[in-house]
Amino acid sequence: MKGIAKGPYLDASRGFGLDELETTADVAIPSDPLARVIGQEEAISLARIAATQRRHLLLVGPPGTGKSMIAQALSLHLPRPTEEIRIVHNPENPERPLVEVRKGEEVLEDAREMEGAEGELIDPKEAPINVAERLGYKCVNCGDYSSPMERLCPKCNRPKVQIQQGAGSPFSDLLGGIFEVTIGQLAGRDKVTTTRKRFGKEEVVVFERSGEMIKVLDQKALEKRREMERVSPRKVLVKLERNAFILATGASETELLGDVKHDPYGGHPQLGSQPYERVVPGSIHDSHEGVLFIDELPQLGILQRSILTAMQEKRFPISGRNPQSAGASVRVDNVPCSFIFVAACNIQDLPNILSPLRSRITGSGYEVLVETVMEDNESNRAGLAQFIAQEIAMDTRIPHASTDAVVAVVEEAKRRAKTLDGKEKSLSLRLRDLGGLIRSAGDIAVTKGDPLITAEHIKKAIKRSRTVEEQIREKYGSYQGGLATDMSDSQKSMAPYHYWNYHVQDDKRGYI
Ligand SMILES: Nc1ncnc2c1ncn2[C@@H]1O[C@H](COP(=O)(O)OP(=O)(O)OP(=O)(O)O)[C@@H](O)[C@H]1O
Ligand SMILES: [Mg+2]
Repeated sequence: MKGIAKGPYLDASRGFGLDELETTADVAIPSDPLARVIGQEEAISLARIAATQRRHLLLVGPPGTGKSMIAQALSLHLPRPTEEIRIVHNPENPERPLVEVRKGEEVLEDAREMEGAEGELIDPKEAPINVAERLGYKCVNCGDYSSPMERLCPKCNRPKVQIQQGAGSPFSDLLGGIFEVTIGQLAGRDKVTTTRKRFGKEEVVVFERSGEMIKVLDQKALEKRREMERVSPRKVLVKLERNAFILATGASETELLGDVKHDPYGGHPQLGSQPYERVVPGSIHDSHEGVLFIDELPQLGILQRSILTAMQEKRFPISGRNPQSAGASVRVDNVPCSFIFVAACNIQDLPNILSPLRSRITGSGYEVLVETVMEDNESNRAGLAQFIAQEIAMDTRIPHASTDAVVAVVEEAKRRAKTLDGKEKSLSLRLRDLGGLIRSAGDIAVTKGDPLITAEHIKKAIKRSRTVEEQIREKYGSYQGGLATDMSDSQKSMAPYHYWNYHVQDDKRGYI
């Protein structure tokens, strides 16, 4: 076999001994994202059920144990979204726009129809010369082509388009208003209407500026466009092609529930934008058919109530949330929001979850306490090796780890299970921290120019990664001991407050 790449042939789900691997390059990374989560069997099997049965999930446990990872992996097990949500102009009452839900195949049909109304894009050099000049692509002085974003010709440095003289100018008649400059920064105007002869018939053609290209709308396209505009104007609120995982951390009300943007001209038919155009979705709508993930659920406070309503009704209105804004009078009812709710929190925060929300989750879903340790056995050690391989692959900037490095990480996981969770014969599942350790060991290897992460690098990284508290413990024997040596007498008398809590309080006797 020497000289032939073996590829990753060790599969943790079938188990292997650490002595079977040479480096972490031998360890296969599962393609199923849920199988990449190590040591959380119960949470993973519930996540699988949640995905197929559309159930909610509450994940409780300390930081860095895989809660976010599980939520995201769950969303990848969901079928693709099948519905697009649109907001439609309501001609009877523009401030009450309507909702339209279109199925996937209808969306495709509409897109095909739209194509006819989109016109054809051409290179400015293919357009009639006077059109290219009037749209600001071609310089009237030197004939060079450039973007209409540039008002001065980059070649001859003169204005590309001759400026129309103001009324009363002695030259205005001469120039005959052929050349105009639109208000704003662009050269030329944005649209030119001309006629052309086609099959013996004269027809109207519109040339429009479209970035670096020119859009040509012939009679057919123009008619189509007019018809589509007449049928009823609409805006896509939640696209068919979308991510099934929406993360809403400590979300603001507008981010979570949607909003109607302000327009200083309100719904003025000429100056302003129509209310339907200003409706923006909240995370609850973006996650329609997908997963709405909320980290640190209790931080949402009173907004938990709105989530509860959205979960029950599967629809939630969008209205302007700023009372000062022109959006405040706009409201769209019944915007769909059928999501799988996945929330995470720490054990201490459990009492701060709104109890009806919790009962809703348990009523049609599951709550699960994530594990902080797993038993120290061969199969879990193999799992840890898979985890190391994953972290290395994800980082992309660090080399693979040798067997002895994997063994050193396993030893460290064992030590952490004991010191952090008081568990013997176990491996820690506080994996975010362990991931950090692997990355800093990788950095050491890279700095030294070593081709693999070795046990030596891991040991150095362990020393570097100790928290300040751990360093104090090592230096002074105990954390309290360290605290005492660093405290003044008056602080000691203030026990049990730590001085850094104390000195921010009003009492001026504190540590200064
Ligand atoms: N069980 C696990 N299996 C594999 N990798 C894990 C696991 N837990 C954590 N990790 C690694 O640690 C990183 C952080 O984990 P994650 O964000 O899921 O933690 P969390 O529980 O959501 O933490 P927090 O409460 O701080 O949000 C992951 O991206 C992954 O690299
Ligand atoms: Mg998280």
